[in-house]
Amino acid sequence: MPATTAKPAEQVAAPLVGNNGYQPVWWKEAVVYQIYPRSFQDSNGDGVGDLNGITEHLDYLQKLGINVIWLSPHYDSPNADNGYDIRDYRKVMQEFGTMADFDRMLAAIKARHMRLIVDLVVNHTSDEHHWFAESRASKDNSYRDYYIWRDGRPNPADPSVPLPPNNYPSYFSGPAWQFDPVTQQFYLHLFAVKQPDLNWDNPKVREDVFSLMRFWLDKGVDGFRMDVIPLISKQPGLPDLTAEQLKDPSRIWANGPHRDEYLQQMNREVLSKYDVMTVGEAIGITLSEETKIINSDRKELSMVFNFDAVRLNRGEGYTERAWTLPALKAIYDNHARVLDKTDWDTVFLSNHDNPRLVSNFGDDSTQQFRIRSAKLLETMLLTLRGTPFLYQGDEIGMTNYPFTHLDQFNDIEVKNAYQAKVLTGKMPEAQFIAESHRFGRDNSRTPMQWSAAPNAGFTTPAAKPWLAVNPNYTSINAAEEVANPDSVYHYTQRAIALHRAHLAFVYGDYQDLDPTNSQVFAYTRTLTVPGKPAQRFLVVLNFGEKPVEYTLPEGVKAGKLLLADAPGTAEASTSTLHLGAWDARIYTY
Ligand code: NOJ
Ligand code: CA
Repeated sequence: MPATTAKPAEQVAAPLVGNNGYQPVWWKEAVVYQIYPRSFQDSNGDGVGDLNGITEHLDYLQKLGINVIWLSPHYDSPNADNGYDIRDYRKVMQEFGTMADFDRMLAAIKARHMRLIVDLVVNHTSDEHHWFAESRASKDNSYRDYYIWRDGRPNPADPSVPLPPNNYPSYFSGPAWQFDPVTQQFYLHLFAVKQPDLNWDNPKVREDVFSLMRFWLDKGVDGFRMDVIPLISKQPGLPDLTAEQLKDPSRIWANGPHRDEYLQQMNREVLSKYDVMTVGEAIGITLSEETKIINSDRKELSMVFNFDAVRLNRGEGYTERAWTLPALKAIYDNHARVLDKTDWDTVFLSNHDNPRLVSNFGDDSTQQFRIRSAKLLETMLLTLRGTPFLYQGDEIGMTNYPFTHLDQFNDIEVKNAYQAKVLTGKMPEAQFIAESHRFGRDNSRTPMQWSAAPNAGFTTPAAKPWLAVNPNYTSINAAEEVANPDSVYHYTQRAIALHRAHLAFVYGDYQDLDPTNSQVFAYTRTLTVPGKPAQRFLVVLNFGEKPVEYTLPEGVKAGKLLLADAPGTAEASTSTLHLGAWDARIYTY
């Protein structure tokens, strides 16, 4: 689809009446579903998910009711970090198929009135990208300044082995600098050694990135999820981090002096020419700082992923931190207060970097609690304020994988951490495995469980999936869920339908009715429509297995029941509710 046919959303004069003062735009009204292509569906029996596999399941997604797909990286890559290390931005990863497969998938998505956003990973490339091959070849190569090269520091202990230029640690263990013998300098890599950081201060880098963005937009994709985008502007002079800053280096790395200037240039020169949505991964950014990126008057990005909620239960590394319901509520309340009508929020509690939704914030210890808590969490995601992002498999209540050995992991984050922690004797192996089981990223990357057939129908029975299928696929799989009207799948479908049927779930004001209650989360969404009665919805969630008799605060009465996660629930028109284990309800009143 040529760029010129699409009208930039911001230029469409639309009434603010009936939207509580928000500018109505399609991406605010969207329900997004994230696909991790490696793990979704293998169509050719090589054990790796692929684009044709996605095309096969578009009817499943359409029936679920989502209308935007976010595709994790599908580009040519040596897969040091499963596609987040890109070798060629204009080529489809061979294992995933061909450009013709991509075009067919995109056309099939559009034919179903859905949209596609793709992952934009441009803080870094693969070290196998041709820019880097050129860059490392010599100091006077025209691509040298595409990356960040520095001399090492003298090493008093051994003058023949220089020390890294500064004390930056990498996200994937070890220093963020790699010595390259060819030119005797170090290059910066905030992630893996095979993910050198691009130098955005070089205008040619920005031009080349903008050009590859146009390539995909001109094909008709509807926007981008932008990987670690705040990290693109580096600190001038790259000084050492202080001991205090080393506790959370992202805070410094995400707030470089030119971040907003570069994003505004990107918006001016690329994004504003198309009708697109953009969602930045707001690593290192606090809620109040994020308005700089998402405030529509500043013309940067549509929205960002803020990690406050998804990381609420996380301490340092993969350690658990106790969390309370009032703390979770305070996050959403804060978002509603800090972000105003010119900002837009996202709602998500899982993705390919976090554990499974139900294992992380619900209860997967019994079948009943797993089902009920998965439904409760989907209710919450689809009724809070912001565009909801669902992750593949959560709609059928998939769980974490029962990891017991290092060999079962594939993720570079886990493998590098094992070397840095266990092999150096800093952490006992058993503790390492337990923590990686709890929070490791492979939990959410195991293959999608489509059926009770061997390999869960993800690949052919004879194939070896690239990552083991969770053994619970015989009881947790899409085929059973689709056949059972009381399943998590059907419940999620109903919750999505409600979200999409009522603009109050999109533009409605949010009010937490009982912020200090440590068991029940009760809130309202209210849309004012001039000349008509306001549209009011009440959501009540019992966060735990303990039943409770819950009396709504003064003036609020549960009216008509629209959705309940416990089959058979009928309680309505009352101010006192009898909530069972993990009960979730949506009322209009
Ligand atoms: C964030 C991505 O979500 C994650 O999977 C990846 O490892 C890093 N960025 C580096 O690209
Ligand atoms: Ca395949």
